Amino acid sequence: MSRMSSPIEQVRERLSSACRVTVLTGAGISADSGIPTFRGPDGLWKNFRAEDLATPEAFTRDPALVWEWYNWRRELLATKEPNPAHRALVSIEGKMETRRAQFHLLTQNVDGLHGLAGSRNLIELHGNIWEVRCTGCGAVTEDRRVPIPIPPYCSSCGKMLRPHIVWFGEMLDSDDVSRALESLEHCDMMLVIGTSGVVQPAASFASTARSAGAFVVEINPDASSGAAHVALRGRAAEIVPLLV
Ligand code: OAD
Repeated sequence: MSRMSSPIEQVRERLSSACRVTVLTGAGISADSGIPTFRGPDGLWKNFRAEDLATPEAFTRDPALVWEWYNWRRELLATKEPNPAHRALVSIEGKMETRRAQFHLLTQNVDGLHGLAGSRNLIELHGNIWEVRCTGCGAVTEDRRVPIPIPPYCSSCGKMLRPHIVWFGEMLDSDDVSRALESLEHCDMMLVIGTSGVVQPAASFASTARSAGAFVVEINPDASSGAAHVALRGRAAEIVPLLV
């Protein structure tokens, strides 16, 4: 007697034959590494005001306060490691490369865990907390000091450094956005993992992919994206490894 396959089996089956897959991740994929999300009951934005800490105006007003907050976050993240969901995405990318299919990973996370896990075709839409950018010469460099001296200065031009993060009110890197949109318009399958889907432009990515013909799967313990064909409800670290 044949049995009906489960939604996870169906998604795994589709993934194994997809030619172009784009994945979008948010803070939820790193929740299982012990990193707080932004908008849950214990989310960072419940305890901190984004406008005081994550805007260019906040940095101009009080760079030391902003750097103190980033030092606190760097300290929190320094000990965290990729979890089975990050690693499963690396396996999926590897399998797709082997069969010459395309894989793009777009993340809103700045924690660097996808890169640490080994993801290669990665776009960090909101930047990376381990990089700094000079407010004078614009040079971007990796800086893993914890804590970073406050305020930190550029070793080439002497001007103040800022976190290489896209703050509220700032534009995303235009090359990153073009590459992300290209992948969304041409993918046949999209996975949306652990994002509340409220911050643009990533919030529109699932609808962009769906309008272009992609099959969209959401992995999240709670409902968020209205654009998904299938919702796999559960923690990313439990569900994503089942798709490999
Ligand atoms: P949010 O905190 O808004 O949303 C986190 C999502 O993860 C929610 O939908 C949760 O239901 C889901 N979630 C929680 N635990 C999960 C788990 N174990 N597995 C899977 N999903 C889980 O985070 P983002 O959508 O990433 O911007 O927020 C977008 C942006 O807003 C962030 O990049 C950040 C913030 O302001 C910047 O830092 C520039």
